[in-house]
Amino acid sequence: MSEFQLDQEAYRQTACQAVAEGCVLIKNENKTLPLQKGDRVAVFGRMAANYYKSGLGSGGLVNTRYVTGILDALMASDGIRLDKKLLKIYEDWNASHPLDKGHGWGTVPWNQEEMPIDEATVAEAAEADDVALVIIGRTAGEDQDNAAKEGSYLLTATERDLIRKVSKHFTRTAVLLNVGNIIDMNWVEEDKVPAVMYVWQGGQEGGNGVLSVLTAEQSPSGKLSDTIAKSIQDYPSTANFGNQYENIYAEDIYVGYRYFETFAKDRVLYPFGFGLSYTTFKMAGQIAGDSDSPFVNISATVTNTGEYEGKEVAQLYVKKPQGALGQPARELVAFEKTRALLPGESTKVIFTIPKYAIASFDDSGVTGHKNAYVLEEGSYEFYLGSDVRSAQLIGSFRQEFAVVSQLEEIYAPVKPFKRMKPSVSGNYYELKYEDAPLRTIGAYERMEANKPQEIAYTGDRGIVLADVYHGKATMDEFLAQLSAEDLIVLFRGEGMSSPKVTPGTGSAFGGLSENLRHFGIPAGCTTDGPSGIRMDCGTKAFSLPNGTSLGCTFNVELVESLYAFEGKELRKNRIDALLGPGLNIHRNPLCGRNFEYISEDPVLTGKMGAAMIRGLSCVGSTGTIKHFMGNNQEYSRNDVNGVMSQRAAREIYLKGFEISVREGKARSVMTTYGPVNGIWTSSHYDLNTIVLRKEWGFDGIVMTDWWARGSIENQPGDRKCRAAMIAAGNNLYMVVDDQTDMKQDDILAAYQSGELTLGQLQENARSILGFLLKSPAMLYEMNEISQEELDERAIVEEGDIDFENIITYDSDEEGTLRIENPDWNPQQGDFEVFATNIQRKGMYNIRITAHSDLNDLAQLPISVSFDNQLRGILTFQGSNGAKVTKEMEISEVFAPTHYVKLYFGASGMVIDSVEIYWVHSIKAPFDDMEA
Ligand code: BGC
Repeated sequence: MSEFQLDQEAYRQTACQAVAEGCVLIKNENKTLPLQKGDRVAVFGRMAANYYKSGLGSGGLVNTRYVTGILDALMASDGIRLDKKLLKIYEDWNASHPLDKGHGWGTVPWNQEEMPIDEATVAEAAEADDVALVIIGRTAGEDQDNAAKEGSYLLTATERDLIRKVSKHFTRTAVLLNVGNIIDMNWVEEDKVPAVMYVWQGGQEGGNGVLSVLTAEQSPSGKLSDTIAKSIQDYPSTANFGNQYENIYAEDIYVGYRYFETFAKDRVLYPFGFGLSYTTFKMAGQIAGDSDSPFVNISATVTNTGEYEGKEVAQLYVKKPQGALGQPARELVAFEKTRALLPGESTKVIFTIPKYAIASFDDSGVTGHKNAYVLEEGSYEFYLGSDVRSAQLIGSFRQEFAVVSQLEEIYAPVKPFKRMKPSVSGNYYELKYEDAPLRTIGAYERMEANKPQEIAYTGDRGIVLADVYHGKATMDEFLAQLSAEDLIVLFRGEGMSSPKVTPGTGSAFGGLSENLRHFGIPAGCTTDGPSGIRMDCGTKAFSLPNGTSLGCTFNVELVESLYAFEGKELRKNRIDALLGPGLNIHRNPLCGRNFEYISEDPVLTGKMGAAMIRGLSCVGSTGTIKHFMGNNQEYSRNDVNGVMSQRAAREIYLKGFEISVREGKARSVMTTYGPVNGIWTSSHYDLNTIVLRKEWGFDGIVMTDWWARGSIENQPGDRKCRAAMIAAGNNLYMVVDDQTDMKQDDILAAYQSGELTLGQLQENARSILGFLLKSPAMLYEMNEISQEELDERAIVEEGDIDFENIITYDSDEEGTLRIENPDWNPQQGDFEVFATNIQRKGMYNIRITAHSDLNDLAQLPISVSFDNQLRGILTFQGSNGAKVTKEMEISEVFAPTHYVKLYFGASGMVIDSVEIYWVHSIKAPFDDMEA
């Protein structure tokens, strides 16, 4: 098998395994699970028939070949006898209560109305069946946070009633949660539910993965990647979540279990790292470490003490001395999932932990070493176990004070605020607050002092990028040929759905203009996203389990191998960089994009991020780690300012990115829509240059989020403010309609005024070109593609067209064909096909006018095919109700009848008119013959 060959069956099996290993069994009494052979199973809940494969927004838009939900998988399973009568009741109810699909981006409801059930129906099923499964579904996503309300974070009264009745009548009742992120769990005890399992949103193989756990083909081995507290109010970030303009990160580093284990143990229902198995395990460990050694070595033994085969996660936590900085009671430093152990079998796990991984950042100078990672003096205790709460002390070592890494101040807050800090006596941690240290250095000082040297402009010397690739010319010599204008053009990516790259993708960047093409610069291609490849023209791709689900596997090797399949799929579709994984921290359970992100813990997030990038990079494409940094709520994401300390930034919000760059060799990063500490992330030099490049050694591209804003200190963010992005080290603006349009932003003016130098433009281009040199795009440019790879290339799959019922529209004599106010109500994935009767030969354009009530970050692509050939994509954005017209060339037309297909990549728009009109005459190939 060639390295490019994508083995779909192995892909499917690995995804299925990942779903299974992500399932977190929260409770399992009365031997409810696993299902036994021959069990008669009653399935309750209308969402059983409507599986959520992922969350909403850009991270969920994968056109899949199929989705196997939990009920589909149960129905296909031999050993399970389903209660058909009950299924029919739900089927009828579903038919008379169709799903509310919303009307596009940000408007899809979090839940669907549940069927009210009467006691007699449940009692009858309990008579007939052995076990009940209740399936509850939730979604949320981009531009749509969860809410602490019934139907979102809380169960609805109807759902509670259902769960209560079923748990009362069935001894064996298991509630399965098909959700994107954690939800309130008080009902588990209040409603006396015997068994509960989070099964998350598992992509197209979701149902099969869940089935393999339900039937004990494998024991559940997923662990919570977040703490589940008693109330949403218990999360320390809740008080500062969801504001329109500003979120103070007052909890500082005390996010998730770092807060709960330190200050509020009694507010926890299910601790971080927790998850049951059908079997049981025992763990023991030993530590070898001392003050002088750069590493701490820990060896652990995990033994399966139960009756089923199963995997366990050895989790290692550190308790550091409080010192002057103050520390959480526990911090995850390492973890490892074992292989499947037979009953009685043991395995050894070895952890080698660099001291840097247990150091803390002093942002105030209280240790005498400001802006340094330090180890404060004292005893470092290590706890080993299967969750943060039950982990047992396995040893400690004494450490003398040491500076591990002296750094510089970055991205510090300017607004004064109080942050949490423990005051400890004995084992008691009292919650206190201290002033967060503020910025002491101007936002632009270091940028001004370190402007890159300019390379003298030479003009065209005939060097193409391939010469740099082959070592025949240096990058400096190549760059010297590009004019300032070329360099500016290079900064702009085109999209969405640029015709210059793979159809339906997020952006094209690099050599898009004639001038840049002249220098042999290829067009690179990026596309979403975290749950599979998004191609808005309808091309099918594999849909993966969501980020939370993968986080809960705690299985780094498995995630890497799953993402290696996606890496091959990227290459097959000629995509250089996926726009994922998402590595923001689950700061609060209500963030709408938590499903895309991994965990409340930065080490778990970072190890998973690194694994995903390693996998994606297996045959030359890569991923884009996003959203760098601080995108922790969706509401007002363009504006809301995160006010956070440097310590919280470095130890929590940047850490996952850092691990992915250092250990995963990530070489593509996406900044966020909004500001942190007053400056939009796309325009912050500290973030994009000092931290990323200087400290972490990042060698790649940084891009904006789509149509994001830039900013200058003390001014509001603005889409045209882009010179500041280049100066900061954000290399690419995503996305514009036309890369060469110089009037669209402030860059040329900034260059002409001397504010932005040629050196800065060259340095920016160096990153983009350096990235392209390492990308498949370059191999295509040089025609260095093996036959094996060509054989594997994707074929665009069209949907089924019902040719019998197609309407034909006639053009007038001028050659204009108009469809006014068609009664189309396109939902994502719908398409409209019509035939033309055009009597005038010539070149034709298509012009579509549409409006949408959504906001301008909503992406509404329409792919236009002519006679089954994709001609291009018109990407509309939400227009707050205003009518917008977009057009493009569609084809040369010689004969009257053609088929036009419009494929709608997203819901939420109304088509006002479609016009196909004559542009100019053409000489048809047979004109001469006719003459
Ligand atoms: C999202 C990004 C995504 C981009 C392209 C934005 O709306 O925030 O995560 O990659 O769109 O679709």
